[in-house]
Amino acid sequence: MDFNTVINSRKTIRKYTNQNISDKDLNSILQSATLAPSAKNRQPWRFYILDDTQKNTIVSMLYNFDNYHKDLKTSVKGSANQMLEANRAIIIYSPIYHSKDKKKYYKKPDYLSLGAAIENMSLECCNLGFGSCWLCDTLYIEDEINDFLKIKDFEQISTLLIGYPKEIPDRRKRIPIKDLILNDQLDSF
Ligand SMILES: Cc1cc2nc3c(=O)[nH]c(=O)nc-3n(C[C@H](O)[C@H](O)[C@H](O)COP(=O)(O)O)c2cc1C
Repeated sequence: MDFNTVINSRKTIRKYTNQNISDKDLNSILQSATLAPSAKNRQPWRFYILDDTQKNTIVSMLYNFDNYHKDLKTSVKGSANQMLEANRAIIIYSPIYHSKDKKKYYKKPDYLSLGAAIENMSLECCNLGFGSCWLCDTLYIEDEINDFLKIKDFEQISTLLIGYPKEIPDRRKRIPIKDLILNDQLDSF
């Protein structure tokens, strides 16, 4: 796909067929992440590629997520359904910077670098004909997932679900550019 086609056709996909994504394609997706820009070229991204058993265990944890906030519970259960269907799930991690550590100033730039890497992955998924969903709902059970996967020195940033799309949703509404520009008197937008 050319650049404009990829940018214009990437959408969050929440329903997947049961077709497998090959290791070769998964490798291309990870490769795209490594090509993202990063603050001081620190490349803070780390990946945990879940196998089916691990994925299903995390799906169960999400189904069991309890919270007094009804909307939150509904969102997390929706994400669990998506994760169950997705053929692949990758959890993206960042190093942890402790408050007394001089490297704590790396935290925000590293978050930005990680966002760039995840977006590259989403775009590469689209380029290869796959759907993806960038999930933050797994953050609500971060500690539980860390215990389960025995992750210690990394902070969860989000999860990327990947699969063959079962349906392509309509484009979600965007705020018009003119409403995004803080300066006044820019009539051309
Ligand atoms: C940081 C981030 C976190 C997100 N978390 C979730 C999530 O937990 N569950 C979900 O279904 N979608 C999640 N999404 C997808 C957004 O809902 C989606 O990007 C947005 O509605 C715009 O739709 P589009 O991606 O199709 O353009 C997330 C997206 C981003 C960038």
